[in-house]
Amino acid sequence: MIRVGLAGIGFMGWIHYLGYQRASGVELVAVSEPNEKRLHGDWRDIKGNFGPPGEIVDLSRVAKYADYRDMLADPNVDVVDCCLPPAMHAQAAIAASQAGKHVFCEKPMALTTGDCREMVQAASNAEKQLFIGHVLPFFPEYAHAIQLIRSGQYGKLLGGTFKRVISDPAWMTDFWDPNRCGGPLIDLHVHDAHLIRLLFGMPSSLSSVGRLRGEVVEYCNTTFHFTDPSLVVSAVSGVINQQGRAFTHGFEIHLEKATMHYEFAGFSDKGELMPLKILTADGQVVRPEIGGGDPSEAFVDEIAEVVKCIEAKEPSPTLSGDLARDAIILCHKQTESVKAGGVVKI
Ligand SMILES: NC(=O)c1ccc[n+]([C@@H]2O[C@H](COP(=O)([O-])OP(=O)(O)OC[C@H]3O[C@@H](n4cnc5c(N)ncnc54)[C@H](O)[C@@H]3O)[C@@H](O)[C@H]2O)c1
Repeated sequence: MIRVGLAGIGFMGWIHYLGYQRASGVELVAVSEPNEKRLHGDWRDIKGNFGPPGEIVDLSRVAKYADYRDMLADPNVDVVDCCLPPAMHAQAAIAASQAGKHVFCEKPMALTTGDCREMVQAASNAEKQLFIGHVLPFFPEYAHAIQLIRSGQYGKLLGGTFKRVISDPAWMTDFWDPNRCGGPLIDLHVHDAHLIRLLFGMPSSLSSVGRLRGEVVEYCNTTFHFTDPSLVVSAVSGVINQQGRAFTHGFEIHLEKATMHYEFAGFSDKGELMPLKILTADGQVVRPEIGGGDPSEAFVDEIAEVVKCIEAKEPSPTLSGDLARDAIILCHKQTESVKAGGVVKI
């Protein structure tokens, strides 16, 4: 049984907690959180944009610490699950590695590429694993697309376009601060940057055109360039000012013998889904049965991947620190390209 200590009981701490209740081979043994009410199990003030609202949780059999740093000395904790605000990730993950723990850290890995590199190094020095919670590949539409690409059933991967656009999250006070949250690319587009890196490898250069808000990119279109010049990969990312569409994400992925299409948009009156479709060369529209509907399911699968890799003593091909570091590198290169104009080498 792998024993987890949860650092930070906010929205993600709650979603991970729900995941631990359903995943096998793993047990929550400790929590850390400075908010007294939450530390003692009253999670009713936790709200997010998916999953159930927070509840009263029984923490009577779980060790409690007011600060994650105090939890690091707990010998019962094998894995520190870092659900802290983004600016705390690097410091917490490095300290947890140095304390001899495996680390499972929410995205974004860290705000700077230097911090990401230090996190990878600290885990490697400690001979412990580092997982970054890039959950997107575990969402059913994305998981199905990845599995079809890898199966080779529809031939070579030719490219794709990836979209992730939200309305201005005015309730997030730190969102636009490069030193606290990182803005739309680091906080949001990082999911697609990670997916692009996972599917196509590391681009050799990129070119982004966009609008800035202060130091960070508000909205941009990016073309990613690879050593294989036949790969055509792009992304649309960022924030629009209108509140009518809170969130949209999706993709169109091109293979030699099929195109895969998916999009979901949360409009202020209702959500609208364009379910995953596979358009084949002979004119068929295949609509795979993939289940889903509850995004918190993906977190159960993500935790299962962490458990599997710790038990196998193998790094995760999906959640590794190396991939997540590369995603942060891409986001910063995109910002550089928007500011400088033109192609930026990676
Ligand atoms: N994967 C996803 O889909 C997804 C969705 C939302 C958020 N996130 C990421 O999850 C992370 C956390 O986001 P959130 O929305 O849960 O934030 P949050 O602010 O709701 O929760 C963070 C919690 O950490 C606690 N904390 C602060 N200092 C602490 C300390 N020293 N020791 C222990 N706890 C401490 C805070 O009190 C707070 O309760 C962020 O990196 C965010 O980007 C990921």
